[in-house]
Amino acid sequence: MEKYVIRGGKPLVGDVNIGGAKNAAVAILPATILAGGKCLIENLPCISDVMASLQILSELGASIRMVSRSTYEIDTSHLDSTEVSNELSRQMRASYYFLGALLGRFGSGQVAMPGGCNLGPRPIDQHLKAFTAFGAEDSVEYGQIHVRSEHLVGGHVFFDTVSVGATMNAMLAAVLAEGTTILENVAREMHGCNYSIIPDQIEAGSYMVAAAITKGDITLHNVIPKHMEPITAKLRAAGCEVEEFDDALRIRRTGELKPLKLKTMPHPGFPTDMQPLMTALLTLAKGTSIVTEGIWENRFRYVDELIHMGANIQVDGQVAVIEGVKELHPAPLRATDLRAGAAMVMAALAANGVSEVDETIHIERGYENIVEKLQALGADIRRVEIPANAVSRAI
Ligand code: EPZ
Repeated sequence: MEKYVIRGGKPLVGDVNIGGAKNAAVAILPATILAGGKCLIENLPCISDVMASLQILSELGASIRMVSRSTYEIDTSHLDSTEVSNELSRQMRASYYFLGALLGRFGSGQVAMPGGCNLGPRPIDQHLKAFTAFGAEDSVEYGQIHVRSEHLVGGHVFFDTVSVGATMNAMLAAVLAEGTTILENVAREMHGCNYSIIPDQIEAGSYMVAAAITKGDITLHNVIPKHMEPITAKLRAAGCEVEEFDDALRIRRTGELKPLKLKTMPHPGFPTDMQPLMTALLTLAKGTSIVTEGIWENRFRYVDELIHMGANIQVDGQVAVIEGVKELHPAPLRATDLRAGAAMVMAALAANGVSEVDETIHIERGYENIVEKLQALGADIRRVEIPANAVSRAI
């Protein structure tokens, strides 16, 4: 296991390249199954969730050729299994996309109950509702989800809740189903079938917060400024200057941080995955901020870590009230999930002195070379291996 050791208090300055979007990549990789031939996928981020998706494809029988660090050729002509191994299913949430893709192509798919960040209950009833509408049967036994259909036909689905995962899974299953499918009340963050993965909005937003929280000046390359608008608007309201270019953004902060009210909502609203990062930032704003989580039931578990650093935050259900403090103090910190982990890194970069962030495995599921990218911006951050005996003592 590894931890990050961070000496904070330095403004981050310089340029950073943003990788392909994790949440697009982990859906597009299973979608290659539907092609039943060769696909070339570009701009794949080098993160553990993508590596796990590639490994699943390989275990199902796909041939995979690495063309460059971020481009892979995937040939799904001759798959010989429709069952995703337990270990890989449990590593990430997005393993559930293999259900829709395998059902669509072969009429049968099996994955173990998916893992991923613990953000409160993460049901998959809406995914199964769509498969059933297409004539499939499902069973959940011993932690295994199995879907099957002799003859998949298009159907009409009205989702009870707006779900990114259920929308994508329904589309994956519907592509090869006979007839027309109509999906209503769908998630809207989809971007056609461009095989070059779109830039990661949340990775970009995280580096924007890095500039804002350290009083820095960062230019982000390979971004789509339009996709960043909800985040850019809030950071401007918090007192940052943001300049937009064709495929770059420059963000700097010279003055005080202003408090904000924000509520996370389905796309195109403010993204829930930025919520922990914004909360970390607002701990240093002058005044009272209110952050409301509109998607997940339990996405404030990391707040105790910020309180250890001297932040003043009260959480009541889905609402956090943040009284800004003058400074954050260094502390031992835990990455409770992927984005909360990134928020801890940003908070540590702002605190004068040495903090340590544990359980960084969550962070590396979704951030490509985060340590190296931050170092290039002038951060004093190191990855340190935790000896196995120290880990077992801690458990
Ligand atoms: C995706 O998760 C993202 N993950 C999440 O990002 C992101 O937080 C979330 O969308 C919302 O934007 C991936 O794309 C891999 P949902 P997903 O289904 O698809 C309820 C990150 O940090 N719901 O849109 O799993 C659910 O409980 C991750 O990168 C049902 O009730 O989210 C939640 O309240 C974390 N039944 C809401 O819908 C269902 O069948 C939205 O969930 C499905 C969902």
